[in-house]
Amino acid sequence: MIRKWAAGLVVLALGLTGCGGDAAEVAAPDRGLVGIAMPTKQSPRWIGDGENMVAQFGLLGYDTSLQYADDDTALQVSQIQQMIDDGAKALVIGAIDGTKLTGVLAAAAAAKVPVISYDRLIRGTENIDYYATFDNFKVGVQQAGYIVQALRLARGGGPYTLELFAGSADDNNATFFFNGAMSVLQPYINDGILDVASGETSFATVATQRWDGKVAKERMARLLAGTYADERVDAVLSPYDGITRGIIEALTEGGYAPTALPVLTGQDAELDSVKLIAAGQQGQTVYKDTRELAKVAVQMVNALVTGGEPMVNDTKQYNNGVKDVPTFLLQPVTVTKDNYQRVLVDGGYYTAAEIGV
Ligand code: GAL
Repeated sequence: MIRKWAAGLVVLALGLTGCGGDAAEVAAPDRGLVGIAMPTKQSPRWIGDGENMVAQFGLLGYDTSLQYADDDTALQVSQIQQMIDDGAKALVIGAIDGTKLTGVLAAAAAAKVPVISYDRLIRGTENIDYYATFDNFKVGVQQAGYIVQALRLARGGGPYTLELFAGSADDNNATFFFNGAMSVLQPYINDGILDVASGETSFATVATQRWDGKVAKERMARLLAGTYADERVDAVLSPYDGITRGIIEALTEGGYAPTALPVLTGQDAELDSVKLIAAGQQGQTVYKDTRELAKVAVQMVNALVTGGEPMVNDTKQYNNGVKDVPTFLLQPVTVTKDNYQRVLVDGGYYTAAEIGV
């Protein structure tokens, strides 16, 4: 449909400029402004998410306002309000604190601006329309699955010591990751095969505010100085690469050789962490292709703005406290030293030179 329209424009442009019409000069359809509110540049993935959406919206004829809020909720609220004031036709929001946007989203609803919750579910409001994300429970299952595999638990052995880290408690995803991981790990803990020697097992205790690697580093250092003063930690569940790098710093500063670290998981396939995987320091990460997530969000917005219906594949899993939010779930991919070349390099996410192998 759009292509047909664009072709029509080319003909029109040629007609207006005589035979010298240049297709490159043909204006893209002007579909208006889309506001893209991203949480932070601290984690490189959000930079990729933002850039991918700007490029894809541009191809469809949308202007974009891409804003990063530096992990500051008040700033994110004011950025979103500004987008509404600027006449945005739709909003795509990667929330910092998923519970703090109720007021500004009431303003969006009053202005009839549809909202896509991007990667993280916005909670406590009826004023979100769709949710684009990865299968968050499965992310946790993949992380824990790697621990089970790396410790060869299926073949017996153990007990092994394990410590648990979760993400930011105000991010709905963090609970899904943790619950997914615990669905795999809990039976081994119950059987005494995995021993969380610190005794710190509740989500609230192991959560890491703002996904901050420094916060995780401090907690790991505390555990090493206390619980692990005289014993080795064999595995650490980490929900995100930035947290894993903090944990690795605490471990190496605490006397663990970089070549003999515990089994470590992660998420996002951040370049610095993929280098650690190639070097055999971090065992695993979960790759979520942000180019695909951007496509899903762009597709949703374009359908809403042009009177179509966004594609979804889940209408049950994500209740935000007020309603079930229609969702499109993408599939995460577990990445280790065995497959990072194929998945990340052959898949065009990084070049071999970037990884340095
Ligand atoms: C989560 C997201 C993860 C990771 C984390 C820290 O919400 O799903 O992929 O990026 O935030 O930024």
